[in-house]
Amino acid sequence: WGGQATALDPFALVHTELESVSERLRRSVFTEIPALSTAAEYFFKLGAEGKRLRPTMLLLMASALSAASPSASFLQVDTRPPNVHPTEERRRQQRVAEISEMIHVASLLHDDVIDEATTRRGLKALNALFGNKVAILAGDFLLARASVTLASLRNTEVIELLSQVIEHLVSGEILQMTSADSELLSMDHYIKKTYFKTGSLMANSCRAIALLGGHPEPVCDLSWQYGRHLGLAFQFVDDLLDYTSSSSTLGKPALNDLKSGLATAPVLYAAQEFPELKPMILRKFKYDGDVAAAEKLVHRSQGIQMTRDLAAEHAGLAAEAVSKMPPAQTEHAEQCQQALTAITEKVLTRKK
Ligand code: FPP
Ligand code: MG
Ligand code: MG
Repeated sequence: WGGQATALDPFALVHTELESVSERLRRSVFTEIPALSTAAEYFFKLGAEGKRLRPTMLLLMASALSAASPSASFLQVDTRPPNVHPTEERRRQQRVAEISEMIHVASLLHDDVIDEATTRRGLKALNALFGNKVAILAGDFLLARASVTLASLRNTEVIELLSQVIEHLVSGEILQMTSADSELLSMDHYIKKTYFKTGSLMANSCRAIALLGGHPEPVCDLSWQYGRHLGLAFQFVDDLLDYTSSSSTLGKPALNDLKSGLATAPVLYAAQEFPELKPMILRKFKYDGDVAAAEKLVHRSQGIQMTRDLAAEHAGLAAEAVSKMPPAQTEHAEQCQQALTAITEKVLTRKK
């Protein structure tokens, strides 16, 4: 992740605007109640913000689709990035980037309670620092603040889209927790769960960006497709990094999925090659030695490569959605379209 700050570095292109989104996020989670404020702002503090993939993707999408300024043809061409003097439309799109990040962090706070995680983003998990009760309430608080910002957009379609995301996050988590035996072994079930867990937030917030930009339905749909496929690719890579990376690189425990009983793509594919994995998946790797045995078989199988291929397929579909978008109307929009495509490649090569 990261990389050099070339003109096409997706993060560099929106860097200044991303800083103002981060700054607003820090301000919008402030409350007069010190204990709540401390907990709520934990993952928004400088250095604790993570990759900021969602806001980056959303700001790039807003720019990639933006029209040439009507005045540009007879006035001086304005090459300044949009954060210098954002239009009302742009401000609303920035709000979507903030809401999306707040929902994401809220889901991580709840997730770490459910998963009994001790680390996140290289820091102590909030639950490990302040306990489960405070972590859950901090997550609820972030959802509440996200809802207030969402309502302030006065756009019922966007409110519907992002509220549905919260429903999907909860559904994905419950699906993961309560799957029947046949579902535990099913790749289709895993992909459906992955859409709920990761794809929906990216897909629907991308769609919200296009909607707020006033784009016609086919463009909104391409934006949704981009977010959906990028989200799926991102999660498939996440699931393979769990097998191939170290805890120190990830900033969260490695082999965590197996250890918490979860069968993700690498082991589901491996089970097609080594059927002895199936009973282990069904008993959630809970016998002594299951985790080590499963890990070994996954590494002997094609599972990791097949997961990489699946991620690459979806990254390719995300890039295809960009290629079908209306031609960029400014040089900046063109760079942002290229950056959206570059993200689809970066997602595949990321190490954390
Ligand atoms: C991380 O997955 C977790 C999610 C992507 C979503 C979790 C959703 C909930 C806990 C439902 C509650 C939702 C809200 C909006 C409060 P992971 O555990 O596989 O990944 P990790 O390794 O990053 O922990
Ligand atoms: Mg987790
Ligand atoms: Mg989890």
